[in-house]
Amino acid sequence: MRQKRSIPFEITSVDSLGQGVSKITDKITFIPKTAIGDKGEAFIVSERKGVAFARTEKLLEPSAQRIKSECSHFSSCPSCHFLHVDYDQELRYKKENFERLFRHFSLPQVEVIAADRRFAYRNRIQLHYSLKSKLLGMKDPQSFMIIPIPECLIAVPPVTAELRRLYCNDQWIKEAPPHVMEGHVEIYWIKDELKVSWNRPYSEGGFTQVFEEMNLKLKNFLKEQWLTESPTNLLDLFGGNGNLSDCLNYSRRLCVDMYQTLPGEDFISQDLYATGALSFVQKELKKRSLLIESLLLDPPRSGLKNIKEWIKFFTPKTIAYVSCDPQTLARDLKDIEEYTIRKALLIDFFPSTYHFESLIILDRKN
Ligand SMILES: C[S@@+](CC[C@H](N)C(=O)[O-])C[C@H]1O[C@@H](n2cnc3c(N)ncnc32)[C@H](O)[C@@H]1O
Repeated sequence: MRQKRSIPFEITSVDSLGQGVSKITDKITFIPKTAIGDKGEAFIVSERKGVAFARTEKLLEPSAQRIKSECSHFSSCPSCHFLHVDYDQELRYKKENFERLFRHFSLPQVEVIAADRRFAYRNRIQLHYSLKSKLLGMKDPQSFMIIPIPECLIAVPPVTAELRRLYCNDQWIKEAPPHVMEGHVEIYWIKDELKVSWNRPYSEGGFTQVFEEMNLKLKNFLKEQWLTESPTNLLDLFGGNGNLSDCLNYSRRLCVDMYQTLPGEDFISQDLYATGALSFVQKELKKRSLLIESLLLDPPRSGLKNIKEWIKFFTPKTIAYVSCDPQTLARDLKDIEEYTIRKALLIDFFPSTYHFESLIILDRKN
């Protein structure tokens, strides 16, 4: 067996994936679940030219930011990243990350909407299983090992209870489809109903936000801060079932999404990454004699790379871009010169993890 290679580390910053960054060896080293000021020894998990990915082996001098994690699985579970620091510090790391990504933009003060709780918020979780190795749990993205997590503090209580039931006496082995040796299971609590689905596409039955209270806060923010003037004609791209635009002050709207659309004039189904998506949407708008004044978009993590083409065509008065990946958000909004940023919001839909939602509101200059 290959020996683990150990290196010393000293954390001086935390990156956008919540990993501590150490620069005291010849390679920049990324170590998850460390905080600024931590010093110790780490073993290397993988490396390539100039960078290494490592895990803490010995913590010799703990950072003053450290607290004791409330979750017993935290050190091995890949789904939470910040339980070794308190929630205020987690938010500071997130805000710094957001500001760093937007450092070349002319940005107003970033507003932060914190969650009122760090735990018991996720209405769905996804676990991997292997009938061969008799393991159910989270998959480590580097080792691909399945880490059992019979308790999950960030899930809502009905999901936690179901998790316990599945783990009790390995009940899950009796319930997993026997012909699929390796797969995944999703446990979700939506509209006061618990569902367990084995090996179905993620978010089957339509996208819903995982933290309902934060969803309401985002909708309120949009309602109060975005379209403050007269009703507008609105284009809602990646609109799902109209969750965000439903609450807005529009006179007419078109909501576009690939996977699910509600029936009615307002909704059309289209792959927005497909060639010709823009001209398809243009035609649909033309059919409805709908001239777009406001553009709302809320894409998946990959963002909307060709957003400039959409903006150039519609020249909306105002744009609200909601994103779960600030990196693609910054990439997409780079060099959009005809607009100024009126609002920049970080809204914490995913406490305990490095993820968060962002919202940028842009107004046309003239
Ligand atoms: C972050 S969700 C936002 C949904 C909606 N705005 C909401 O708040 O519920 C992203 C949406 O993009 C949709 N989507 C994913 N890939 C797509 C594609 N290629 N074309 C169009 N819509 C897509 C998903 O169905 C999902 O509804």
